[in-house]
Parts: sequence; C-alpha cells; structure tokens
Amino acid sequence: MRSHFLQSFPSSRLRRLRQSSWIRSLTAETQISPADLVWSIIIHDGNTPRIPVAAMPGVDRLNLDEAVKAAERAEALGIPAIAMFPHIHPDRKDEAGTESLNPDGLVPRAIKAMKAAAPNVGIICDVALDPFTSHGHDGLIDEKGYVLNDETTAVLVEQALMQARAGADIVAPSDMMDGRVGALRKALEAQDLINTMILSYAAKYASGFYGPYREAIGSATALIGDKKTYQQDPANSDEALREVALDIQEGADMVMVKPGLPYLDIVQRVSETFAIPTLAFQVSGEYAMIQAAAQKGWIDGHRVMLETIVSFKRAGASGVVTYFADRIADTLSAGA
Ligand code: PBG
Repeated sequence: MRSHFLQSFPSSRLRRLRQSSWIRSLTAETQISPADLVWSIIIHDGNTPRIPVAAMPGVDRLNLDEAVKAAERAEALGIPAIAMFPHIHPDRKDEAGTESLNPDGLVPRAIKAMKAAAPNVGIICDVALDPFTSHGHDGLIDEKGYVLNDETTAVLVEQALMQARAGADIVAPSDMMDGRVGALRKALEAQDLINTMILSYAAKYASGFYGPYREAIGSATALIGDKKTYQQDPANSDEALREVALDIQEGADMVMVKPGLPYLDIVQRVSETFAIPTLAFQVSGEYAMIQAAAQKGWIDGHRVMLETIVSFKRAGASGVVTYFADRIADTLSAGA
C-alpha cells in the first residue's frame, strides 16, 4: 500500500468513486460469479423426493431423482461442481462404517446418475466415515473411543477408490487424519486413477458451526464425544499452515479451509502463502444463522448471502462451497 500516492482532503475525496452504481462497478476490486461456487447438497437413500432439514431452512435432503435434477440445475446455472453429503439410514450404520465401502451404496449410485445427467458438472465426494458410523466419528475407534489414525486411513483409501471408480471427479478427505492425502494419492496412482483430483479439507477446525449438518446427515444423535482429537483447535493459525503444507507435499491438488466466515484470516494466510487453489466452506451453521435471522426479519438474508461470498473472494478464496449456491447463481444470472 503506497499511501504517499494518496492526496490529502479535499484533493482526495474517496466518496467520488462511490457516487453511482456504474462507477462502483467499474472500480470494484472483487467480482463474484456462479463459476466461483460449489453447491453442497445432502442426499438420502429413501424414496421421499425432498425431506426438509429443520435447522437449515431452504435445504432439503434429496433422493436420487432430485439429486439428478440438482446436477442439471447446476449445469444450467453455470455452477461448476456439486459436493454431496449422504444421509444414511440408521439400519445401515455400524461401528466400522462398512456401508462407506459399498460399491452399490447411495454415494456411488448418486455419482453415476448425476454424471450421466450432467457430465459437465464436477462431482466432489466427501471422504470420511461419519455418515456411516454408529458412533458418528469420522474414523474407526478403539475401546476407549479414540479415533485411530492409520487404521482409519486404510479404510478412507478404499472409500475414495470406490468413489473414484464410480466416477467422482474430486475426492475430498474431510476427516483430518494425518497422512491420508499421501496414502490416497499413492493408491490412486497405483490404480491408474491418475486424473482423480484431491481436494483436501486441510485446515478443518473442531467447530460448533457444524451442528445443523450433523442433523442433516443424521449423525448428531449418534456422535459420542467431540472431534477435538483430530480436528484443529479454533485458537490456532500457524498450525493451519503446517496442515496445508503437508497436504500439498502429499499430493493435494486443492485445499479447503473450514468453517468459512469465522476463519477468513486463515483463508487469507493460506491463499497468500501457498500458490494453490484455496476453497472456503460456508458451513451449515453459517447458513443457518443467516436464514434464521432473515426469517425473523432481522437481516436482509439475500443481501447478506451475497455479501458473504464477496467477503470470501476478497480474502483470497478461489471458490466457496455453499448451500446457497443455486440461489446465488440465480441472482447473479438475473443480473442483480
Ligand atoms: C465430516 C464433515 C462435517 C462437515 C462436512 N464433513 C462435519 C463434521 O466434521 O462433523 C460439515 C459441513 C457443514 O457443517 O456444512 N466429515
């Protein structure tokens, strides 16, 4: 910032460039477009087309047919990719999360159906066991409930390979086990899946903002304890850089910071430090806060939704994963 270029008042009146919308547009430092968005959706393995998620007004769990329609809608709206998260029937959950490896399970069926309907929409799959485990943790646990690292990684690799074979374009480990990106990359190379991309949830914090998501995928009631032994402490910033550095060394193509808005400082540090695409995840609790305040008439939800996306981009995010993606893209294509 070369502030000596700045004239003093009244030569310099910064309000001159704010006086009308055309000059504000011309001088805007940040643009948002549908191409910046990843649409996060919740899918379920029942027949009901759409099941509302109480804590996320405007988000429904989608059955397969509705997921296909979402993929077509993304394509029409110019949203490049969809990230899907499964709600698995409790009867199919067990301690080891076995259903996560089922090649005929909900996730691989959804990948195939969505790719067939909208081949140009990227499909991003969550690599983690929490939708599938009876205890709600992202990995395998020992007798004390501790989430095992290396044993979990071995299962995650199988899960990701299954997703890649079903046609997932991007596998996105969100479990925070150490070394799992390297193990995954090695396995993908060995299986000739060399073009499968890895989006690592590299800096993922143990956050209260995931509450509504756990209701959405049905892991809230199941979860025993918390995830603080594997997800990051919200107090830490340098640690996020170490996480990202390791994941890049291990073979991540892109990295993610999660949650989003409360962690914009991390988004900025990561995107400035590493020359790698950095996504931010506007998580369920961020979505819920906006929708709840808007429903009460306390904020203009639509305006705040757009403002948050500008903020992510301004902080340096290359893209934003958001449950609002379809509504944002709708607004932007209407020229708002
Ligand atoms: C876990 C996972 C979580 C989310 C995506 N994958 C939650 C958690 O770590 O408990 C959260 C998404 C959201 O809140 O929108 N594998």
